[in-house]
Amino acid sequence: MIGNSPSLNAVRRAVERVASTDATVLLLGETGTGKELVARALHNSSPRRTSAFVPVSCVALAPGLITSELFGHEPGAFTNAVKKRIGRFEQAHGGTLFLDEIGEMPEEAQALLLRVLQERVIERVGGDAVPVDVRIVAATNRNLAEEASAGRFRADLFYRLNVFPIALPPLRERREDIPVLAEHFLRELAGRHRRSVSRIPASTLRFLMVHDWPGNIRELRNVLERGVIVSEGDDLAFDPSWLAGASTAETAQTWAAQERQRILDALRAAAGRVYGPGGAAQRLGLNPTTLYGKMKKHGIAKSDTNWK
Ligand SMILES: Nc1ncnc2c1ncn2[C@@H]1O[C@H](COP(=O)(O)OP(=O)(O)OP(=O)(O)O)[C@@H](O)[C@H]1O
Ligand SMILES: [Mg+2]
Repeated sequence: MIGNSPSLNAVRRAVERVASTDATVLLLGETGTGKELVARALHNSSPRRTSAFVPVSCVALAPGLITSELFGHEPGAFTNAVKKRIGRFEQAHGGTLFLDEIGEMPEEAQALLLRVLQERVIERVGGDAVPVDVRIVAATNRNLAEEASAGRFRADLFYRLNVFPIALPPLRERREDIPVLAEHFLRELAGRHRRSVSRIPASTLRFLMVHDWPGNIRELRNVLERGVIVSEGDDLAFDPSWLAGASTAETAQTWAAQERQRILDALRAAAGRVYGPGGAAQRLGLNPTTLYGKMKKHGIAKSDTNWK
C-alpha cells in the first residue's frame, strides 16, 4: 500500500489492529480506492495467511446457482451435478472469504449468507451440514447503511457485516499521495513494458494533482500505463485528454498545449536550433534559457527529435 497521507495511515492502523482477530470487516469506498488490495493485505497479515483467500464477486451470483457456488453440492444432488463440488465457503476454510461488491448481492443469496453468518455451518446441496471456519471480509462501493434503510439491502445482514467498517478515502481527498503513487506505478509499469521512461515532467504532475480522479487509484494507474507505453524517452508521455471527464484540466490543457505547439513549431522552423538569429528562441521572443526551461516543462527533448 503506497501513500503516506493521514487518511491512508489511519486505514493502515485499522488493518493492523483488526488483522489478528476473526472479526468481520466491511470495506467501504468508491471504485478503485483499493478495497481488494486492503482485503488481501488484511488476510496476509492475519494468522490465516497460510490458508486460502477466496474472492467471490457477489454480482456474478446467478440466482439458481448461488447455493452450489457458495456451499457446494454432492454428486447427484440435482440434474447435472455429476461430481462433488466444493463451495466457496469450504474453499476458504481456515482462511478468508472476500465477498466483493456485497451491495449487489441478490436477495436470495443475502438470506443464505445471513444464516451462515449466524450459524457458521453450511449445508452442501444434497449433503450434510459442515462447520466452516472463515473470516469474512466484505466490500462495496455503495453506501450500505443507506441501502439498508431504503430496504434495498437486508438490514439484519448489514448489521452482521458492519462489525468493523473501514472506509477507504477517495484519491481526491488525499492528493498528497498522488506523486508517490505515480512514481510507484511509473517504475512498476516501465519495468513491465520494458520502457526506459523514468521521469514525470512537472507540467504532467500538475495535471495529476488537480484532477478529481473519479476512478481513483485504478484511473491513475491506467493513465500512467498509457503514458509509459507511448513514451519514447526518459520523460513520461501524457495528454490531459486521458483524464476521465477532464473538466478541471481542460482550461489549463488548452493553454499548455498551445504553448507546447508554438515551441515545437518554432523548433521545426529553426531545424532544431535554439540559439542565434533565426533560432527558436528568437522566433518566440524568449531568451534561450527560458526556452530550455519551457522545453523541459513540456517534455520536449531537443536531442531525440529530428526537427527537419
Ligand atoms: N495504496 C495503494 N498503493 C498501491 N496501489 C494501490 C493502492 N490502492 C489501490 N491500488 C491499486 O489500484 C487498483 C485498484 O485497487 P482495487 O482493485 O483494490 O480497488 P477496489 O476498491 O476494489 O475497486 P472496485 O470497487 O472498482 O472493485 C489496483 O491495481 C490496486 O493494486
Ligand atoms: Mg474491487
